[in-house]
Amino acid sequence: MADETTTDRNGDVMILARNNRGRLVACVWNQDMVNGLPSLPMREGDVVICSYAKSGCHWTWETARLLMSHHEAVVQQTEKEQCMIEMSTLEKLEALKSPRLLNNHGFFDEQPLSEMIAKGVKVIFVYRNLKSVATSFYHHHTRFQEYNYSATFDNYLSRFLDGLVDNDSAFSYLRGWEKGIAETPDLKVHVLSYEEMKKHPMEELRRLSKFLGGSEDEEFLKKVFEETDFDTMQKKKAKTTLYFDSNGLPVMYRKGTIGDWKNHFTVAQSELMDSAIQKELGDSKMFKFQYE
Ligand code: A3P
Repeated sequence: MADETTTDRNGDVMILARNNRGRLVACVWNQDMVNGLPSLPMREGDVVICSYAKSGCHWTWETARLLMSHHEAVVQQTEKEQCMIEMSTLEKLEALKSPRLLNNHGFFDEQPLSEMIAKGVKVIFVYRNLKSVATSFYHHHTRFQEYNYSATFDNYLSRFLDGLVDNDSAFSYLRGWEKGIAETPDLKVHVLSYEEMKKHPMEELRRLSKFLGGSEDEEFLKKVFEETDFDTMQKKKAKTTLYFDSNGLPVMYRKGTIGDWKNHFTVAQSELMDSAIQKELGDSKMFKFQYE
C-alpha cells in the first residue's frame, strides 16, 4: 500500500493510502492487516468494536473494557490503540489474552464475517452524527503530521463529503453497515449512538453490559460511568495514549461533546451537510442522528 497524495476539488492535498478494495485508508496503517481483515482469525469470546473514524471508538472501548473486566477473566490491561487491528500485527493480536477487545474501521464487507459468526463474536457498532464526525476528523487531519494536510474548515467539508479521507466515504460506510446488519441476522451486533451514550448513559451502559453478558448492578454501572466520563478519561489517558499532536495534546481526547460542530459550521455548511445526509442516508431506518 503505497502512500497516495490525494488532491481535492479545492486543490488541497492529503497523504493517504488505498486498500485492495480501492478504499482510502490511513498511510500509517499496517497494509497486511488492512487487506487481511476479511480473513483474520477470530476467537470465541472476542468482542470487536466497529465504527467510522471519530465516532467515539476510544470511549466505547474503555467502557466495554471496564464492563468486561467485571465478569470475565480480566481483559488485558492495555489501550484501545494497541487493540486496533489495522495498527497491529497477527503476532501481537495472537499474543493478547482472551477475552480480546478489538476494534477496527473496516467496512461491513471487510469484516471476517464467517469467523465472527462461527465463533459467536460480539460486535459493537458505534455511530455519531456526521457534523460532529466531520468536525472531529478535521482536527484529527490537521493535527497529525503524517497527513501533511492544512486547509480551512470550508475546504475540508467538501473533502469529507467527497469521501477523500481515510475510512473513505462516511455515507458508503454507514449504508454498508446498515445493509450488512439487516442481511446478517446470525451476527451478534449491538448498535450504539454516541449521542445516546451522552444523553442517557446509565440506560446505554445497562444495555451494553447486558449484551456483553455482564453485570447490570446500578452501583457498578455508576462506577463505569464515572471512569469513562470525558474529563476523567482525558486526564487519565493523557498519560497512556499513543497519540499526541506537536503541542503535546492528546489528539483522541479533544472536546467530547455533542454540539462542538456548531462552533465550526456556518448555517450554509450545516444545510449542505443536511442535504447530503438526506440524499445519501435519507431512507435509513438505523441511523437517528442527533445534533444537540
Ligand atoms: P471530539 O474531537 O469531538 O472531541 P474516536 O475514538 O472514534 O477516534 O473518536 C474520538 C472522539 O471521541 C473525539 O471527539 C473525542 O474527544 C471523543 N471522546 C473520547 N473520549 C470520550 C469520552 N469519554 N466521552 C465522550 N467523548 C469522548
